[in-house]
Amino acid sequence: MTASECPPEEIRRIAALCTTKWHRDYTRIKLRTDPAYAAVLREVSGTSLPLLDIGCGIGLLAMYLRGAGFDADVTGFDYDTGKIEAAKLMAQRSGFSGLHYAAGDARHEMPAFSGHVVILDILQFFTSAEQDALLALAASRVATGGRLIIRSGLRESTWRHRVTIMGDWLAKLTFWMKAAPVCYPTREQFERVLSANGLRVRIEPLWGRTPFNNYLIVAERQA
Ligand SMILES: C[S@@+](CC[C@H](N)C(=O)[O-])C[C@H]1O[C@@H](n2cnc3c(N)ncnc32)[C@H](O)[C@@H]1O
Repeated sequence: MTASECPPEEIRRIAALCTTKWHRDYTRIKLRTDPAYAAVLREVSGTSLPLLDIGCGIGLLAMYLRGAGFDADVTGFDYDTGKIEAAKLMAQRSGFSGLHYAAGDARHEMPAFSGHVVILDILQFFTSAEQDALLALAASRVATGGRLIIRSGLRESTWRHRVTIMGDWLAKLTFWMKAAPVCYPTREQFERVLSANGLRVRIEPLWGRTPFNNYLIVAERQA
């Protein structure tokens, strides 16, 4: 059975799998405080479709889902080979099965796949045209009954949007991210591109206790 969230003792165990203190602290804080992971869990809970995580970083979503009892296969995909290696190592040490990782640039390729697709916090690194292409490619990987689940900032005239831009630049300047933010997508863009690809779209704020202008975009391929 899938729990509604990953229990604190499991988060502590997952964080202890990291090879560096920086990754350990980052993992513990992210898994405890970032509302995106529990939001994805809610959207896929009770289903058995596999899940593709585009821009998976060090694979925290997969760890969170397994820690909460989600047992379908999860494939993580990221162009940062260092993060993919760290994710593989954590997966090996965790004892969890059915976790797969592949390195590649989502602007040019994506693993063959059919199931749920997740994109957390990467669209801002793409131009508007690249975002449209990535959304269409991701939509093509969503199975009937599956969902494309996205967390993204939206381009809006709000203080939250300005704080989001500063946060992304900070990540770049501290070398946590290889890329600087390029363009933030709009609400209209998600609705236009995803509906054109046969998905039914809903968009809701996902601010949690953060100051960031984040939204949860869920696009479903109905039977
Ligand atoms: C802000 S991090 C989010 C990590 C992960 N989704 C999470 O929420 O824990 C963005 C990730 O996207 C990856 N990324 C950025 N551009 C990419 C691209 N063109 N192809 C694949 N991955 C990319 C980065 O390497 C980074 O790991």
